[in-house]
Amino acid sequence: MAKGRSRYVCRDCGHEALAWSGQCAGCSEWNTLEEVAAPLSAKASGGGRRRAPAPPRAIPLRDVVSPREERLGTGIGELDRVLGGGLVPGSLVLLGGSPGIGKSTITAMALGNLAEAGRQVLYVTGEESAAQVRMRAERLGPGALAVPALAETDLATVVAAIEAERPDACVVDSVQTLHSAELSSAPGSVAQVREAANALMEVAKRNGTALILVGHVTKEGAVAGPRVLEHLVDCVLLFEGERERSYRTLRALKNRFGATSELGVFEMRSGGLVEVEDPSARFVGEATAAAGSVVLCAMEGTRPLLVEVQALVAPTEVVPPRRVANGIDRNRLAMILAVLARHGGVQVGGADVFVNVAGGVRVDEPGADLAIALAVASAQRGEPLSDGDGKPLACFGEVGLTGELRYVAHAERRVGEALKFGLSPVLGPRLREAPRGLEMSATLRKALGSARRRGGGALREAA
Ligand code: TYD
Ligand code: MG
Repeated sequence: MAKGRSRYVCRDCGHEALAWSGQCAGCSEWNTLEEVAAPLSAKASGGGRRRAPAPPRAIPLRDVVSPREERLGTGIGELDRVLGGGLVPGSLVLLGGSPGIGKSTITAMALGNLAEAGRQVLYVTGEESAAQVRMRAERLGPGALAVPALAETDLATVVAAIEAERPDACVVDSVQTLHSAELSSAPGSVAQVREAANALMEVAKRNGTALILVGHVTKEGAVAGPRVLEHLVDCVLLFEGERERSYRTLRALKNRFGATSELGVFEMRSGGLVEVEDPSARFVGEATAAAGSVVLCAMEGTRPLLVEVQALVAPTEVVPPRRVANGIDRNRLAMILAVLARHGGVQVGGADVFVNVAGGVRVDEPGADLAIALAVASAQRGEPLSDGDGKPLACFGEVGLTGELRYVAHAERRVGEALKFGLSPVLGPRLREAPRGLEMSATLRKALGSARRRGGGALREAA
């Protein structure tokens, strides 16, 4: 690339091109390419003519000394768990989520706890004034009020502040508001966000500062809009939930220092976010046990989680009928409806189907298939699956295209969690070693039969 020549970067996906065009070749969006000057790093390194350095020597991995860095506990157990045991000094965490979900609240709480534990912290706010941040902190308590805040959007100033204060942990809320005077594009553009993240990463690594970048989620659900940040940072956390509802879930989409499947559950209260330490108890307690409701024994990372899956089947004249999925994959729902029709004798062709995972939780695992199928079948027939005492039915298992029920991992832990709440037997697939309390079915049809017998639907029909 010629020195100083402009490039064009897609605002949405970060795809780079040497010439402008109306449509991005990366994501096919229109009018998203923005002109960007040649990167600063290229200018810097391409400048002087230096002598070639001596070739570096690679060392066997066993001789590499890995410093056993102590992690910073944020005092928020669910956050620490999702991080893989706390913040790693010098690491870069991107925290994404839609507006109003609680990103500023959780970061302010974490810094407050760290400040109370005697750590150096810094809260950079580009979005709100220091007075607004103070108002939030007043709700969160004395720890949060002790956090030094800097209302600033100029990148160079923020970098200088981190350099001067050398905090153990620093939050930049949000990365999209930062602006580098060296670049002509607007704050929030790909070029600005990337420049900001690079500069902040450099200063954070040098000072051993654990840095949390807060980022907004675009309509497509990508963190910080441009995906450019996701591969740059060490850890990507996503804060999800419905704004109107009080439950929030936190999960890692990427984590260089831990597992990505851990889930933290929070509840937004008047005094900030409260960890929900036993989410299964909450969700089972709130399950309705009405027709169309079933409890799914899900796995979230290393932890079993019971959630209520609800379905509504409503006759409609609309063609094609609506298929609305909240908390599960739409295509998965379509597949399960097809298998139900073909192998389960449950037809929903002339009806709208709505499926919802209660509590705003997302379950992205095939183990949820059976719960979806049973909820839809129960809703379609108007038959509750709960037993005589009104206890909801618990289940798990993957549904195959030929109508078979397939094995999913951690069967014992799923069943164990259901037993903890007195939900037994649990319907599930056939296993070689069946845990106590599991009622196994080889096919979806058999599981549907077992569920109806339990709920009394089949008996009513026979009578
Ligand atoms: P906020 O952290 O500002 O969200 P984000 O930074 O992701 O945009 O908080 C969002 C909402 O949470 C806001 O509508 C007010 C509410 N809230 C509470 O209910 N209790 C509290 O203690 C706090 C601080 C906020
Ligand atoms: Mg905020």
